[in-house]
Amino acid sequence: MNVNDIRTKYLEFFKARGHAIVPSASLIPQNDPTTLFTGSGMQPILPYLLGEIHPGGTRIADSQKSFRAEDIEEVGDNRHTTFFEMLGNWSFGDYFKKEQIEWMFEFLTSELGIDPRNLYISVFIGDESIGVPQDVESVDIWQSLFASRGIDAAFLPMGSEADGYRLGMRGARIFAYDAKKNWWSRAGVPANMPVGEPGGPDTEMFYDFGTPHDPKYGAECHPNCDCGRFVEIGNNVFMEYVKQENGFEKLAQRNVDFGGGLERIAAAANNEPDVFKNDVFQEIISLLEHFSGKSYEDARYTRSFRIVADHIRGVTFMLAAGIRPSNTERGYVLRRLIRRAIQHAQKIGVPSDQGTESMLNRCAVIVIEKFKQIYSELDGENAYEEITSEIWKEEVQFGRTLENGMKELEKIVAIGSISSQDAYTLFTTYGFPFEMTAEIAKERGLSIDEEGFKTEMKKHQDLSRAGSEQKFKGGLADHSEQTTRLHTAHHLLLKALQTVLGPEVHQRGSNITSERLRIDFSFGRKMTKEEIAVVEKIVNERIQEALPVVRSTLPKEDAEMLGAEHEFGAKYPDLVSVYSIGPVGATLEQPEFTQAYSIEFCGGPHVTNTSELKGTFKIQKEEAVASGVRRIKAVLI
Ligand code: ALA
Repeated sequence: MNVNDIRTKYLEFFKARGHAIVPSASLIPQNDPTTLFTGSGMQPILPYLLGEIHPGGTRIADSQKSFRAEDIEEVGDNRHTTFFEMLGNWSFGDYFKKEQIEWMFEFLTSELGIDPRNLYISVFIGDESIGVPQDVESVDIWQSLFASRGIDAAFLPMGSEADGYRLGMRGARIFAYDAKKNWWSRAGVPANMPVGEPGGPDTEMFYDFGTPHDPKYGAECHPNCDCGRFVEIGNNVFMEYVKQENGFEKLAQRNVDFGGGLERIAAAANNEPDVFKNDVFQEIISLLEHFSGKSYEDARYTRSFRIVADHIRGVTFMLAAGIRPSNTERGYVLRRLIRRAIQHAQKIGVPSDQGTESMLNRCAVIVIEKFKQIYSELDGENAYEEITSEIWKEEVQFGRTLENGMKELEKIVAIGSISSQDAYTLFTTYGFPFEMTAEIAKERGLSIDEEGFKTEMKKHQDLSRAGSEQKFKGGLADHSEQTTRLHTAHHLLLKALQTVLGPEVHQRGSNITSERLRIDFSFGRKMTKEEIAVVEKIVNERIQEALPVVRSTLPKEDAEMLGAEHEFGAKYPDLVSVYSIGPVGATLEQPEFTQAYSIEFCGGPHVTNTSELKGTFKIQKEEAVASGVRRIKAVLI
């Protein structure tokens, strides 16, 4: 069964059960500033779960384009992707647990032909502290469904994930886990939910691929184990609660929010644990195999094949949504995907010198052809032209970055050895990936000290951690008015440095007194007079523009997703304080949104408007403090 067949079957199944089929919303959330991308089917649906009337009625279903940037590093195993299609169906105060669970069981087993003996279930164990009991109803419904197929589905109250690794399966089929696993809201577990946020217990379905357990993940295997034997294929959320100042209340209506990854469901239907074996990815992978002469089955390359295939699909959909590569927010995620795809294509050994007919573009064309019937933005008059030309532009630009890094590396190689410090500087200052340094070292028969490189990275992380602790303890000399002004100027300066010198510039230390500010930042050479002048000019313009300075408190992940600048390697709590300066008006990427000029993890204090900085910003000194680190002292006069 291919992915298209399953999408169609799902939508028809729910249409036949009274659901209006609605089109996918954009990958760019329309009225939801909490995430950069639409990451689940429910995000665009939120108002209707809270009581707004949906024009389609009280039952709707769709296939929603979703993107989870937090999964970028996970891509490479047999089941994680960044972009995915989430099949979804919703009841807005209409049907509830019984119908939802029965339909899911019917859809998976009768429509898709999945053997119920391969299905395992999790439910919410309950939490007295928030007044939500164990979900015994769902357990009953599942047990009678399994019984109808002659399966005795034993129940095991598991507890936490750690308990799962300790207890193992114990012959059970239905398992109760805590809120970390079986409670769903946009903000995660109950404790992290802001007041007004809806959420509820959920029941998840897992497919057992029967692959051997890998004890690297924990002593015993269980449905939520990460070894890959069990894959979650769908989540039924019973969204009937809303967070209040003191605990939870029931919403006016009981909702169902179902979401299931289309490709994972397809993998289960085909009993094929590798989602990259589906028809969409296979075409891309075959093309890469053809041009590289390498095999996807060759374990040395599998991960890279998967990364290229996944990333190029995400890239194609992002470009089609109107996002363009840049150094902030969505544009930055897009840039990262393209650059990672290029690196991994090189690893596989795919030639990349074919002009606009680059390999990545050939892959993008497969994505366009595969999906344009379903998602019309891929079928627009200029879609093909725009998508391929943007990818190519970014390839050229990244090529230049690598070239500069190569030049530096050649200088180092000429001396006859590459130290871990060299590899570190190449990475932090030139954006030149360590893997490439290592590869070139190997080619030239030079040794490279990977452990040493890691130690350098760690040292540097410890340093910046110490720096950030100091900063949060009040690295400011005092909280006087002038120190506060210089602190806000410090944020403007960091952003201006990134604009002028490049996105690789990050803060490495700071010290602010009422006399002057001092910033240490990663950069490999002396700044020119012109660069200094442009940086000063930008900061002074932002002061003139009288931009608001706003503090917000939000979950760490959300702050990261919004592109908030933070100290590399520093440890932050789950809820962080963030200062944004701006907005500075609409941009090409986000015509409908205003965008903050600067956004940083920071405990303050700051002025409330840049006009309070008064005076003119002036850089007094720019000098080296360490290899790859520069220092600026600046004042407001
Ligand atoms: N909204 C639920 C999820 O994303 C279905 O898992």
